[in-house]
Amino acid sequence: MLDPFNRNITYLRISVTDRCDFRCVYCMSENMTFLPKANLLTLEELHRLASLFIECGIQKIRLTGGEPLVRKNLMWLIEKLSQKIGKSNLKELTITTNGSQLASFANDLADNEIKRINVSLDTLDSDLFKKITRWGELSKVLDGIKVAQDSGIKIKINTVALKGINDQEIPSIIKWAHSNGMDITLIETMPMGDIDGDRTENYLPLTDYMKVLEQEFKLTESDYNTGGPSRYYTSTETGCKIGLITPLSHNFCSDCNRVRVTCTGKMYMCLGQDDSVDFNKLMRNNATDGEIIQLIHRSISLKPKSHDFKIDEYNNAPAVDRHMSVTGG
Ligand code: 5AD
Ligand code: SF4
Repeated sequence: MLDPFNRNITYLRISVTDRCDFRCVYCMSENMTFLPKANLLTLEELHRLASLFIECGIQKIRLTGGEPLVRKNLMWLIEKLSQKIGKSNLKELTITTNGSQLASFANDLADNEIKRINVSLDTLDSDLFKKITRWGELSKVLDGIKVAQDSGIKIKINTVALKGINDQEIPSIIKWAHSNGMDITLIETMPMGDIDGDRTENYLPLTDYMKVLEQEFKLTESDYNTGGPSRYYTSTETGCKIGLITPLSHNFCSDCNRVRVTCTGKMYMCLGQDDSVDFNKLMRNNATDGEIIQLIHRSISLKPKSHDFKIDEYNNAPAVDRHMSVTGG
């Protein structure tokens, strides 16, 4: 599927739920109102839609949330999709998780062809972990990581860089990740959805932070590219990678290969734009597969050249209203 800017769209991210068992301060308010369950696509609908996207040319699917593993019976969907790996356009199925339930699910994931997952982890200090996630428990996440690694799954850590909160600790988080064979990506806070506090206070521009990292680690710029917003560096000491996601810059839009479907069946052509296409409505109006495929192609033809995040929007309202947990990052 080629979009109007000649980018080949091969990567689909699907948020399977807006719910989560954590309430990270930069992501959610403490008293979140979640979507009515009836608005969420059923697992059957998710499966049908994903299958049609695969038919159209999607090669990689990432299930996100919220926290994907809190979705009841998610393993049914994972099993169904993993059966398509190698037998269709689909080459890779993966998830992004907060790790809270990984200890129970990792073996099932490994049994279903899931080879690599992303685990979100912003600190290794259990008190700070509680402060950042409000409801999370560090030890459970660390156990989950261990079980996943033992089952042969490769893990990448995602760490949101928060000024005044975990910035001092970042070098030791990197060392911990690398010494346990995990790559790590640092993420800037993005202005998405209302939270209780003010994101400006904790915004840490990672391009500046690179200077700190360069003092701590011997880094070479890597040409590794996932078609996403990460720029990668390789530590010459550990051989592991450090990625930086700086979404407010535009450096990645030109080779963007992805689109996103929310848990309510809306497709967003760009994380930083409000344009969307509604698959839920179409599917619940008894659309045929052909009609859905038509809408997939039409939506790809609407993919914008680049996003609209602006730095000064940190000063007032979020740049996009929806929370990351709806669109799935
Ligand atoms: N800005 C940056 N990262 C966010 N995440 C959730 N909300 C935000 C936000 N507003 C992160 C999570 C996870 C990844 C999927 O997205 O911590 O690592
Ligand atoms: Fe849940 Fe991830 Fe949001 Fe934290 S950042 S509340 S783990 S969805």
